[in-house]
Amino acid sequence: MERLIAPSVLSADFANLQRDVEMINASEAGWFHVDVMDGMFVPNISFGFPVIKAIKKYAQKPLDVHLMIVDPDRYLKDFKEAGADSITVHYEACPHLHRTIQAIKQLGIKAAVAVNPATPVANLKDIIADVDMVLVMSVNPGFGGQKFIEHTYTKVAEVKTLAANANPNLIIEVDGGVDASNIAKLVEAGASALVAGSSVFSSGDPFSAISQLKHA
Ligand code: DX5
Ligand code: ZN
Repeated sequence: MERLIAPSVLSADFANLQRDVEMINASEAGWFHVDVMDGMFVPNISFGFPVIKAIKKYAQKPLDVHLMIVDPDRYLKDFKEAGADSITVHYEACPHLHRTIQAIKQLGIKAAVAVNPATPVANLKDIIADVDMVLVMSVNPGFGGQKFIEHTYTKVAEVKTLAANANPNLIIEVDGGVDASNIAKLVEAGASALVAGSSVFSSGDPFSAISQLKHA
């Protein structure tokens, strides 16, 4: 699978959001990664529908919406209407995960499940055939700019093994602390969608940083 870079808008300059969205449009990025945090599932609050709609107004690439919220079922339709092209829910936030995944698919968009660093990949055995993507968190969700957890390589390889028979077209995404020093090894382990926040936006030249991640 081709390597796809998904810059995390969480690290963009919200006072210059249109500028940053257009930079991503012009770059080698594949998706916009859009982090929604509710202050309950994670200890931080990010943004909601008005900001997603504003991004969608200028975005020329798919919006990969990562929901770090409790009870996401309540808002799936609203996120789709705000512009989501895929929705990722957390394993840890969904007691009826199969139902939630089916509800996302019924909206006609891609459905994904995310696992926190302490959640075993084996817990995905009975859902992996139903999802378009698994997101392996390489930090504890809630904030950009955290240190990459090394155990992620093992987890990505485990997802790949689990998917080999059950879902060979599965996309494996990694989110948190991804930069030019670890991206090649993540791709080698089986990741094909790579989220990058601070390694893109804290660099002097975000446009080139995306290109470096694409080819590193
Ligand atoms: C973390 C978010 C990430 C974050 C990544 O909870 O899900 O998408 O924006 O930022 P970096 O790349 O800085 O770790
Ligand atoms: Zn994210």
